[in-house]
Amino acid sequence: MDMEQLADLRVIAIDGPAGSGKSTVARLLAERLGLRYLDTGAMYRAVAFAAIQRGVDPVDAAEVARIATDMDLRVDDAGVVVDGTDATVEIRGPEVTRAVSVVAANPDVRSELRTRQRVWALEHGGGVIEGRDIGSVVFPDAVLKVYLTASEEERARRRAKEMTDLAYDDVAADIARRDAADSGRAHSPLVEASGADVVDTTGLGVDDVVDLLVSMVDGPAEGGR
Ligand code: DC
Repeated sequence: MDMEQLADLRVIAIDGPAGSGKSTVARLLAERLGLRYLDTGAMYRAVAFAAIQRGVDPVDAAEVARIATDMDLRVDDAGVVVDGTDATVEIRGPEVTRAVSVVAANPDVRSELRTRQRVWALEHGGGVIEGRDIGSVVFPDAVLKVYLTASEEERARRRAKEMTDLAYDDVAADIARRDAADSGRAHSPLVEASGADVVDTTGLGVDDVVDLLVSMVDGPAEGGR
């Protein structure tokens, strides 16, 4: 694949830790801009799901990499389909969430998904793409790179609200564990990409954040102060 072709695409990269509001914000931003939306976390989750389905230990790097390469994967607004099976609900479950960090640390899985993400962007003429390494590694020439964050407490509170069956303390512990794994891994760790704008969403409503990002895509108004 030619990186120059990628540089011409209208890609908006949104990275950040778990619970920073990336998915909600990225989806709404895509709608506002008339672009497609891609949740790359769902792709890593889909690989973890496929491994569990096939009885493969997520730690078995070679087998999991083979699955990532062979699997038929569709991620779109309708959900996630893995080898013809709808996995939209299962990929958010505790079993996949536990397994996904080790899958996402596998360099061969990352390489395969990176290619799939770039192909997706070429096919869709760009899009709003959300993950951990989108601005830093996958699309370093994105037209806008945003690093979305929020205080650890607020991120845990938001996640606990989404997962009504889980206690706040459990959600907070899980978020802290995944933050450490995502930021500490050797391959494409979660970092603020060079040229990324850091947006702290603590105390901000979703609409405020989306408005802010739309204004960042449009650039400062002509004749503005
Ligand atoms: O955003 P999420 O919680 O659905 O992501 C699931 C896991 O995948 C998370 O542990 C981080 C990892 N991930 C990644 O390493 N790179 C991405 N571009 C997206 C997600």
